Amino acid sequence: MSILKDKKILLGISGGIAAYKTAPLIRLFIKAGANVKVIMTPASKDFVTPLTLSTLSKNPVLSSFTNDDDENDTWNNHVDLGLWADYFLIAPATANTMSKMANGNSDNFLLASYLSAKCPVYFAPAMDLDMYKHQSTVDSIATLQSFGNIMIPATSGELASGLVGEGRMAEPEDIVAFIENDILDKLPLRGKKILLTAGPTYEAIDPVRFIGNHSSGKMGFEIAKSAAKQGAEVILIAGPTQQTVSHHLINVLPVVSAQDMYDATHSYFKDVDVAILSAAVADYKPKFIESQKIKKKSSTLTLELEKTKDILASLGEIKTHQLLIGFALETNNELENAKGKLLKKNLDLIVLNSLQDKGAGFGGDNNKITIIDSKLNITPYQLKSKSEVANDIVLQLIKKLNA
Ligand code: CTP
Repeated sequence: MSILKDKKILLGISGGIAAYKTAPLIRLFIKAGANVKVIMTPASKDFVTPLTLSTLSKNPVLSSFTNDDDENDTWNNHVDLGLWADYFLIAPATANTMSKMANGNSDNFLLASYLSAKCPVYFAPAMDLDMYKHQSTVDSIATLQSFGNIMIPATSGELASGLVGEGRMAEPEDIVAFIENDILDKLPLRGKKILLTAGPTYEAIDPVRFIGNHSSGKMGFEIAKSAAKQGAEVILIAGPTQQTVSHHLINVLPVVSAQDMYDATHSYFKDVDVAILSAAVADYKPKFIESQKIKKKSSTLTLELEKTKDILASLGEIKTHQLLIGFALETNNELENAKGKLLKKNLDLIVLNSLQDKGAGFGGDNNKITIIDSKLNITPYQLKSKSEVANDIVLQLIKKLNA
């Protein structure tokens, strides 16, 4: 899935022959799941028709401050459009348009929208090679970059004039890939590896029975999605669960028992930056697993249980650089118990779920949490959907990593 899915892209087209490439460019943005609105300078309409671009973008194409077709002459609001966009791309960016952008001119709708835009601005220059090399163009580009605008460099090749050299607008595929990579590179968890446990564990009694719990795994899967959205690579060690996720940054490793989860967690821990243990691990398991199905012979049956290994505590003992986050599910004396676990297990953050809070805990779609950090700062949150709760946890994690 592209990072551009559901993103709002404003495409500003200025008047150069490369404007014809904006038709396939819009198709690629739409294919990536983006919403596209197009602004054309008057000159660009000589190279590609607004009808083509409005058909492809599924939105009216704007090019002047007023809507000529409308007898009431409605006003096109460049400020609204500038605020609407998540990303503004000017492609092709001609020498003339770049010069005007650099100097704050606003004598057409594209330029006024540029001045109003608050989002990241990309520009893809396109012109003949001598124009591209001219000091005035070089200066315009430097000025735009000093404003924080991001250039998608022109490439070398045959130009419309017949000359060969630098100045050809980047190909549509390369423009889309450039923007996607730039967005990904700037995500706060880009390059971070996160180990996550989720769901219940099943502890075998005999070949057909087990001891389990009602954890759905939802909370852990939502954290995985939220962290991946922020650019993290996630190793998700999941006990038996109905949850599924499909994301190129999330690798799901299914496990069954507490021991499986312990082994999997330990094999990845040393290479990760963060470990978040949200699984509801069984605290006890049958001491002996019967090799045959237990027959119902007697009126009562006693199972001897022994403690499982505490995965979280074991990671707290060996952690070096890793940020370690645990969960605490409590029914009484919640804050004190959670603080106790945080200190005892050597954690950086603990996420407390109180079963006293209506709507919190296992199974449901909502959760209410309190986050406590290692300095015992307490941050309580409202009851929210598990995906919003996951975002809160990931934001705290980002804050902690940046601290
Ligand atoms: N946990 C773990 N391994 C276990 C048990 C728990 O990694 N064998 C982790 C959970 O994933 C969670 C945290 O420990 O992040 C707290 O689990 P919880 O059951 O609330 O606490 P316990 O330490 O098991 O204590 P108790 O059940 O007595 O409250």
